[in-house]
Amino acid sequence: NSDITNQEDYAFKEKIDAAQEQLDKNAAFANKMFEELLDQHPFSPRAIYGKARALDNLAEQKQSNELVKQALSYYLRLLNAPDVPDKLFVCASERFINRARFMGQYKKAVAVHWLLIERFPDNATYLNNLAVTYLTVNLVSEARSVLQRVLSKWPDDGFALVHYGFILKTADNNLNDSIMYMSKGLKTNAPGVIDGRFFFHLGDALTRINRKDDAMKLYEKGVEKKVFLSKYQRSLYNVDRLTGKPWWDPKDLAGYQMLFKTLKNNYAKIRQEGLSALNDQGYFQHEIENLKDTGTWKQLELFARGQKSLKNCAKSPITCSIIQMFPEASGCKRGQAKFSVMHPGTHVWPHCGPTNCRLRVHLGLKIPSKTFIRVAEETRSWKEGDLIIFDDSFEHEVWHNGSDIRLVLIVDVWHPELSFEERRNLSPI
Ligand code: LMR
Ligand code: MN
Repeated sequence: NSDITNQEDYAFKEKIDAAQEQLDKNAAFANKMFEELLDQHPFSPRAIYGKARALDNLAEQKQSNELVKQALSYYLRLLNAPDVPDKLFVCASERFINRARFMGQYKKAVAVHWLLIERFPDNATYLNNLAVTYLTVNLVSEARSVLQRVLSKWPDDGFALVHYGFILKTADNNLNDSIMYMSKGLKTNAPGVIDGRFFFHLGDALTRINRKDDAMKLYEKGVEKKVFLSKYQRSLYNVDRLTGKPWWDPKDLAGYQMLFKTLKNNYAKIRQEGLSALNDQGYFQHEIENLKDTGTWKQLELFARGQKSLKNCAKSPITCSIIQMFPEASGCKRGQAKFSVMHPGTHVWPHCGPTNCRLRVHLGLKIPSKTFIRVAEETRSWKEGDLIIFDDSFEHEVWHNGSDIRLVLIVDVWHPELSFEERRNLSPI
């Protein structure tokens, strides 16, 4: 504790240590002890910090945002106190930032990031952390300029390189530069760079500039580093034990037979609703995830994250009421149900869905020839009135080389090995 104790705190160090002892045992008691110390020593760095930590622990115990706010005010008081040892200053700042982010108070977090940056101007970490805070609230241009500042002073900083490359890829679609930055950053193996998102987007950028072999080598490295389940299965929000295979036979899904039967039996009505919605403006929306290479691809969302779209279901009531009957589909919070239309000349880049917790059922509604979907290493097509089922956490790619629109109904269902408890508790995607 010598590096967190200043000259004046040394005079009553035993008392401070005794209070600190109580922090993890009895936070309420520690809170009282630090309060008493503060009465006598209002500027004592360790007493202020201890008081903040006690309130912080109590906040966690009681799940109280009011107590988090009080803890934040004490952390801040420490940051403005005289003669605070560096180590204490850093601990308090980092915890303040963590809790301010948790409370959605990103501006307060940013202010403390700047205190750190000004106090430690030769440490890139504090600028990098500020960039991360900006990214978590989607302030991309602010993150970008902070990272540029890091890289102008430390051009080999791995953390800044991968994050800057990530922005070039996801915000600017600047493939060549994003590849340069992300691959240089990954090679450093610096803390924070071995992260699925960077492998994911670097591989995607390589694929799109026709360097598929390099992408696959990178994905294999991602498997070694345990950021992917396999070279083809690259979802990032996973439950680890689930069986993963690209294509599923409807017979493999014993519990979902009624859903499948009902979809097939009502194929003509579902097709009618989809085609009629297509004729009206303002229902189908262009795909916006930057997955498309060429052509036109639009979707009409009926369910997403376990929620029904009222407007769109009013347009296709039969289809929605069918899906509604089956909780494995309507309750699939990690998926969607939607009509998907693809026009001739469309190519969808190879891509992976976000999670291995769902399987994707397609009901073929209007299927011209020369339309294909590849999942991992096997390419198939659709049949009108029939189902195909695949796991969209595996790499898949779609082509429409035909001459009329292709329409399918996509219904995501929970992976059959997820328990009902898990289905209830998994966060929506
Ligand atoms: C996909 O899930 O990316 C595609 O299968 C969607 C589609 O319309 O074929
Ligand atoms: Mn997809």
